Amino acid sequence: MSEKTVAFPQDRTCPYHPPTAYEPLRTGRPLSRVTLFDGRSVWVVSGHAEARALLSDGRLSADRQNSSFPMPNKRFKGLQTRRTALLGLDDPEHNVQRRMLIPSFSLKRTAALRPRIQETVDRLIDDMVAAGPRAELVGAFALPVPSMVICALLGVPYEDHEFFESQSRRLLRGPDVADVEDARDQLNGYLRELIGRKRHSPGDGLLDELIAQRLETGETDVEELVALAAILLIAGHETTANMISLGTFTLLSHPEQLAELRSEPALMPTAVEELMRFLSIADGMLRVATQDIEVGGVTVRADDGVIFSTSVINRDEAVFARPDSLDWHRPARHHLAFGFGIHQCLGQNLARAEMEIALGTLFDRLPGLRLAAEPDRIPFKPGDTVQGMIELPVAW
Ligand code: HEM
Repeated sequence: MSEKTVAFPQDRTCPYHPPTAYEPLRTGRPLSRVTLFDGRSVWVVSGHAEARALLSDGRLSADRQNSSFPMPNKRFKGLQTRRTALLGLDDPEHNVQRRMLIPSFSLKRTAALRPRIQETVDRLIDDMVAAGPRAELVGAFALPVPSMVICALLGVPYEDHEFFESQSRRLLRGPDVADVEDARDQLNGYLRELIGRKRHSPGDGLLDELIAQRLETGETDVEELVALAAILLIAGHETTANMISLGTFTLLSHPEQLAELRSEPALMPTAVEELMRFLSIADGMLRVATQDIEVGGVTVRADDGVIFSTSVINRDEAVFARPDSLDWHRPARHHLAFGFGIHQCLGQNLARAEMEIALGTLFDRLPGLRLAAEPDRIPFKPGDTVQGMIELPVAW
């Protein structure tokens, strides 16, 4: 047992590649032992086939309240004290919550949102152009696009965006346990009050629908609705914002691929899929084993922590040829960047529509778009949270 294991998670060296320190995880073994911040040894899955098998295996649990659940850093420890909606539930409970939400995230409902997304993107670019020819793209574009869209979908007033965006930032990247817990409490308090207000004067968002169809009928209670709203609000803006900012940075760093995309805009949907694979921004899905499981030539024991490193899984050479290159012509759709199995991303249709419209329109409207700082001086997010740019100075 003297073999030295890799520490997990670690910061990326380049914002669009897996950390170089994960190299030993890419040597062909589908599961490896890694060490967490607290010295605990857990499994990291890096094989694509094994990841799919395990993510659909009911013997792995997403219950964060399980004391053996692996946490990627100290500051998230406090979150283990309360039930996490949807993402933190196992079936059959999980399925009950998921079924309430599925109709609102169907392909058809998402397609109907496209004109609204396009309008939002156009308006934000008009504002950037009016104030240009330079901008900080995260604040001016990458964050407001998904934030405005999820507000419209849920029926959350966008005027409150600074408040919920900053609570969400603290929740994901706050300095310590107390800060993360405080952010969660503030966000839940805000949503509780909003739901209270909506019960008296309903609007036309998903929250209003859930209040009318599930809360007033006694099928759910206020606390469950608050928890669901929180997860939708956070997952709905943070992740897509990171894909838009990091996607832009990556395209500007790959001029050949960008030129090809510009000359053939019909490539955009496959390009978005390839960017999802290449960037794998949700790099570390977490689970705990509830029984022994034989997989990939090893035995995962009950109570072992199991982490799925999507940046490594999505570069499995057995599945993706020349995985470290960005290639619009590969079939990338079976990447696991939206997860797999029962927790596979509920908002993936929405995220795809937002990315296609945001990136397509941005590069179309601003043909001279370029980075306005040396690439290696532009700050990006640490390894223990969703990956993306902290700031993105651009000019055109
Ligand atoms: C490009 C942006 C996005 C990425 C990379 C992403 C990634 C993911 C991943 C990897 C999971 C699975 C986590 C796990 O199994 O532990 C997930 C779940 C989820 N995502 Fe997304 N997501 C994105 C956008 C969105 C959007 C726009 C929404 C809209 C509300 C959303 C809502 C959710 C929800 C509710 C879940 C939990 C589903 C469940 O547990 O059944 N996501 N997402």
